[in-house]
This record gives sequence, structure tokens and C-alpha cells, in this order.
Amino acid sequence: MGITGSIAAYKTAHLVRLFVRAGAEVQVVMTRASTDFISPLTLSTLSKRPVFTELQGSEGWHNHVELGLWADAMIVAPASANTLSKMAHGLCDNLLSACYLSARCPVFVAPAMDLDMWAHPATRSNLERLAAHGVRTLPVGEGELASGLHGPGRMAEPEDILGHLDAFFSEKQLLRGKKVLVTAGPTHEAIDPVRFIGNHSTGKMGIALADALCAAGAEVTLVLGPTPLRPASAAVEVVPVRSAQEMFEACSARFSGCDIAVFSAAVADYAPREAAPEKIKKHEGAVVLELVRTPDIAGTLSPQKKPGQLVVGFALETENERANALDKLHRKKFDLLVLNSLRDEGAGFGHDTNRVTLFDARGDEKALPLMDKRAVAQAIVRAVAAAI
Ligand code: C5P
Repeated sequence: MGITGSIAAYKTAHLVRLFVRAGAEVQVVMTRASTDFISPLTLSTLSKRPVFTELQGSEGWHNHVELGLWADAMIVAPASANTLSKMAHGLCDNLLSACYLSARCPVFVAPAMDLDMWAHPATRSNLERLAAHGVRTLPVGEGELASGLHGPGRMAEPEDILGHLDAFFSEKQLLRGKKVLVTAGPTHEAIDPVRFIGNHSTGKMGIALADALCAAGAEVTLVLGPTPLRPASAAVEVVPVRSAQEMFEACSARFSGCDIAVFSAAVADYAPREAAPEKIKKHEGAVVLELVRTPDIAGTLSPQKKPGQLVVGFALETENERANALDKLHRKKFDLLVLNSLRDEGAGFGHDTNRVTLFDARGDEKALPLMDKRAVAQAIVRAVAAAI
């Protein structure tokens, strides 16, 4: 447990206690600044181990490589803007950041800072970099901050931090060794070399699913349409594709080898019959494009599944949601269907949150509340694990 210089450091006494009580061995590593907020003596008493601060302590050299390899998980809580920035850029001028660079285990950060520091583009891009390096950021709380200002930036409560790690390690087992194929994102159907037909999908939900499946121990291949977003976990194999036809070919080659397929991509249903070889020049009057059907990837592959294979489909409906969803579930032979409704505020394209209803092949139905897409992804993973 890395502790950095933020007023929220006072909560780590409780945090250490919760982890120890849950049966964890806790090695506390503090930055020098954090010792102004909480005494190392308090934390060494609670963790029943000496607390390390310096690379060279009174007990001698603290081997950051050994510490980094020893841990099953590293949690930096509170994670100050300064330490997040160091981690994002690979600086290692103290024991905590050197441990981070040596850690091979999953790393979690629970940021804590004032709302303007939290909103600053530098912090935003540091968190994105960390996500790209596989670091998991726990959500911050909103409310009164130490400065007296109100807003986001409070460290997650110790109980929530423990809950998060608990869920991570129990989910880790759920799909261990399962091979999962996921499609996500939009597809682009070329009109000519510069234009395409596409849709508003960003792939956020499917990418969150790929990450959640990976965290649950699955081997994940993500066939991803054109989007700048990428999974946080480097363990997810990404196969970038552009058109529905390319996505179909990538999936056809992999479907029979997977245990679970999750079709969350927003695949174009129609594509221009032929892409013009040169940019189409504008002229007076209308242009008519002839559109032909693209392959229905899920509709073709799902009925080919063998016993033991499980297929999850998505439906995005704007009317008669339930009836259309059930029809799709049966027609495309899905085992589980995730219904998104565009009617819900905060749900759908590009949002960080989503509200979905899960249907299974027996007709059971479960409506989930509006949640962060990562939490929705975890709920879908649990449903998949239960179904398998
Ligand atoms: O028929 P509809 O497009 O609404 O079906 C949605 C489901 O089918 C989603 O799981 C989507 O990923 C999948 N699909 C597909 N290939 C298509 C169209 C949809 O895999 N061409």
C-alpha cells in the first residue's frame, strides 16, 4: 500500500486495518510528504510491519524490486496528483515510485486532490496514460473537499477500496482460462477513398467489457472497429478492422476456437455496393448510392455454436425495446442479450454511463440501474459466468 501526501492519508489507518482484518499482509510504503499527514508509527502498528519511506532506511537498503515482486496487488491510496504524474511518466525518485515500476501485480490508484487539480488536463492525461499502462483507477467521491470547495476529488472510502479489490480478486477466478471473442466499436463502409457510412458508436462499452473479461481471467481477443479508444489492459489482444466485411472475416476465423463470443459492435447493416476508386466529385443535383446488406456477423456465427460455447448479443432499440430484444435473442440464437435503450439519459453512445437490461435464453430478465460502463461490464461478466 503506497501512501502519498494528501490530507486523505489520515483515512489510511482505517484502510490498513480493513485489509489486515480481511486477512491481507500489508506492507506500507509512504512518501516523505505523507508522513506529515499520518504517522508511520500508527501505520506500522496497524499493519504489524515496519513502514518504509526511504530507499535507504534505518534498517538498511529497502529493495524496491523485491517489494514490487512480493505483492499480489499494489494500491496507492491516496494517490496525489504529484505521484500520479510520476507514475504516468516513469519517474522513480522515491521508494514508492520505484516499487511501482518494479511491480508485476495489478496496480490500483485511489486519487485524492482538489477539484481543479482533478479536472486539470495534465491530471486527465496522466490518468489516461496510466490506464494505457494497465493501472486501474478507482472512482473518486464527490462532496466537500479539504479546501472547502465542493466537487469531485475525494479519495474513495476505505470500505469501497477494499470492496473493489475483493471484487477484482473474486472475479479473477470467474472466467479463468476461457477464450473470449469480443466485437466492439462502429464499422466504416467506404463510399470513396475519403468518405464512409458510419455510426456514433465509440466502442466504450465493448472495450470496458473486454477489460472486465480480462480481469475475470479470460483470454480476450477484441475485434475492434475504427475508434481511437483502446482497452486499459495490455493483455487484451486487439484486432483492428474497418468494415463489416473485415470484422466478419476476423470473427469467422476465431469463432470456433472461442468459449464465449460477445457481439457488442455497432455493425453497419448496409454498405455501398462498391467504393468509388477516386473521390466522388460534387455536381448539380442529387447523388444516388446503392446500398447492399453487410454480413450479419452474430446472426451467421451464433447459430454455428457448438455445445459449451456461449454467445452474448447486444441490442440497441429506440422503440418496442423489449419485444425487439426478445425477438433478436431467439432469432440470432444468443444465450444472453444486453438491451441498451437510447431513451435513457446518460445511456448510449459516448457516455461513461449506461443503463441496460439483461435477458437470458430462458426468458429471465434483469434491469440494471444507470451505472458507470465499467460497472455495467462487471455485471455482464457475472451474468456470463453464471450462464456458463
Ligand atoms: O440486428 P441488430 O443489428 O439489431 O443486432 C444486434 C446484434 O447483432 C449485436 O450483438 C451486434 O453486434 C450484432 N450484429 C452483427 N453483425 C451485423 C449486425 C449486428 O454482429 N451485421
